[in-house]
This record gives sequence, C-alpha cells and structure tokens, in this order.
Amino acid sequence: KQRVLSGVQPTGTLHLGNYLGAIRNWVKMQELYDTFFCVVDLHAITLPHEPRDLLEATRKSAALYIASGINPDNASIFVQSHVTAHAELAWLLQCYTPIGWLRRMIQFKEKSASQGAEEVGAGLLTYPVLMAADILLYGTDLVPVGADQKQHIELARDIAERFNAKFGGKKWKKLGGRGGRLFKIPEAFMPPTGARVMSLTDGTKKMSKSAESDASRINLLDPPDVLYGKIKRAKTDAFVGLEYDNPDRPEAANLLAIYSLVTGKSTEDCVSETAQMSWGDFKPMLADAVIAHLEPLQQRYSSIMEDEGYLDSILAQGADKAEEAAGRTLDNVRQAMGFVPRR
Ligand code: TYM
Repeated sequence: KQRVLSGVQPTGTLHLGNYLGAIRNWVKMQELYDTFFCVVDLHAITLPHEPRDLLEATRKSAALYIASGINPDNASIFVQSHVTAHAELAWLLQCYTPIGWLRRMIQFKEKSASQGAEEVGAGLLTYPVLMAADILLYGTDLVPVGADQKQHIELARDIAERFNAKFGGKKWKKLGGRGGRLFKIPEAFMPPTGARVMSLTDGTKKMSKSAESDASRINLLDPPDVLYGKIKRAKTDAFVGLEYDNPDRPEAANLLAIYSLVTGKSTEDCVSETAQMSWGDFKPMLADAVIAHLEPLQQRYSSIMEDEGYLDSILAQGADKAEEAAGRTLDNVRQAMGFVPRR
C-alpha cells in the first residue's frame, strides 16, 4: 500500500477550508492507503503562542480528525511532538537546506512581513524543513493538502533529492547501509474543488485561522445560529444568480463551490439550480446545507470530548505506530550521515 501523511496546525479552531481542502480527502484516502495523520503542534509555535491555547487546540484538532471520519483503526492519528524523530530529522535536514530556498517561501515572506522581518523567531524561516521531515520520515507517497501548501511540498521534494544525491546510494552502502534512495520523493495531492476555500468577507483572500475577523471563516464547531449569521452577512455583489467562473465574482464562485462540496451535488447541477436565484434566496439555502453537513461531525466531536481517556489512548496508539515507522528512517539517515551508532 502507498503511504499518505498529512497534518493540520493546532492554532485556533479548524475551519471549513482545512476540512474541504484537506481532512475530507484524508477520510476518502484512508481505505486505500496506509495513512498517518498528525496534529503538527511543533509547527504551531513558529508564531508567538499561548501554552494553554496550544494544549486545548491540540486535543481539539485530534478529536476533530476523528469526528470528521478518520477511523483510528485504519489510520495512525498522532501528535507531532510525541514522536521526537520529527524535530531530530528537521535539524539534520536544516543543516543542508540553503537559506535562499527558505527565504523564497511565500508563507515566510507574508508572515515575516506582518511580524517584522528581523524580530520573528528563526522557526518561522525553518518551518518548511520541519514539514519536510514530517513527510520524509514516513516514506510518504502522497500528501493531501490545500493549494497553499504546494510550495512547501515542492521544497520537501527538493530537500529529499538533494539528500539522496549527497548521502544515499553507494556512499551509504560503504557505511554499511542498504544503498539506494534514503528518501522517497513525495507528491502533493490536491482536490479538484476545495483546494482553496476563500474568506466569507473577501472572495480574493483564502479562509484562514489567522485572519482577524472570525466572520471571515466557517469554523467546524460554530453552532448553527452562528453559521447562519456568518453566511447571511457574507460579502455579496450586485448580480442576480450564482456563477462559478466569472472572474469579477469571486464571492459567488466561492459560495457556490462550498454549496457544491457540502451537498455533494456537481458544480454543473449547482450552477443550473442557482442561476436565477437572488442572494437572498441562495444564502439561507447554503446555510442550511452547511449546518446539515456539519451537524453529525459536531455531534461526534462532543461525544469524543466527553471521554478524555478515549482520545488519549488513540493518540498513544498512533504515536507508537508512527514512532516505529519514523525511527527506521531516522536510523538510516544517521548512518548515512556518519553519526556513531549508540550501543
Ligand atoms: P494549515 O494548518 O495551515 O492547514 C491545514 C490544511 O488545510 C489546508 N487549508 C486550506 N485548504 C483549502 N482552503 C483554505 N482556505 C485552506 N486553509 C488551509 C492546508 O492546505 C492544509 O492542507 N504546514 C501545514 C501543516 C503541515 C503539514 C505537514 C501538512 C505541517 N507538516 C506535513 C502536510 C504534511 C499548515 O500549516 O497547514
């Protein structure tokens, strides 16, 4: 079976973009692949954080994976910091990753600009190397993510190729290793729709956890009345009828895509269903569809959270499986780089 790995940062609560862009596809993939889904808590401290919030958001995120339909009997669900190989491999990779590659990352440019480039923690720059470590440790074939992570996955591929060339093959064999590739070259897997869910208040910006206004996003745990209000107040335009491919109407395209994804109807069907509708007719219909889609997820979430022991046991079991797989890769890398084995 091919390997799949992905993760979400436990900052704030998960939103519909995380779900439609990533988690929903994980659910579909878990039957066909050998899957690892990680709550990437080490990534969540690259910007200033509140310890209490991290603690809460990490457990919440793991519970939301399960509530979204990830089956812990099929998939390994774990917390990144529980498997120390992630931080360790990140260091080894970092030392061979050109700084220039990291400075080019769009997310680094955006986030460092907003925080003051000289003041941000060094982790914000090296963050994509930690992500590469997450992926490469598991011999991952496919990484299901939204469009905003594409550049980071390309970087992971570049790092893997550079390492394979430098430390793999014959050189590794001479050190007693297996020879051949140290790392498998991963590929991004993006859904045809949903890879870029946009903000409710501006159809040209992506829905994000860090956007200031909570009205801009649909959180998976928003209660029905909040969802209704947010969708009702979502930005609209002066046109009648919804459309999918008019570049002047990013909000219409976004809300129609959300409608299609939560109802499971094809885009074409949604376009013909809504072609004559006013916003006033469409929005309540969309709100109902979103609420109906999230309701079972929210119910499962509540029952998971009632039993702390259950979640902890899933995470412990996931960490065991992950540790075993990751440990093998890390041993290879240590050997290939010339570190003395511990007796
Ligand atoms: P994060 O936590 O920002 O987002 C988690 C996942 O949600 C997707 N996503 C979106 N998809 C569609 N529309 C949106 N508006 C939207 N916003 C977010 C993201 O693309 C992502 O798939 N660096 C990663 C986490 C990470 C990771 C990894 C992912 C760390 N290590 C290893 C895969 C493999 C991040 O910050 O995602």
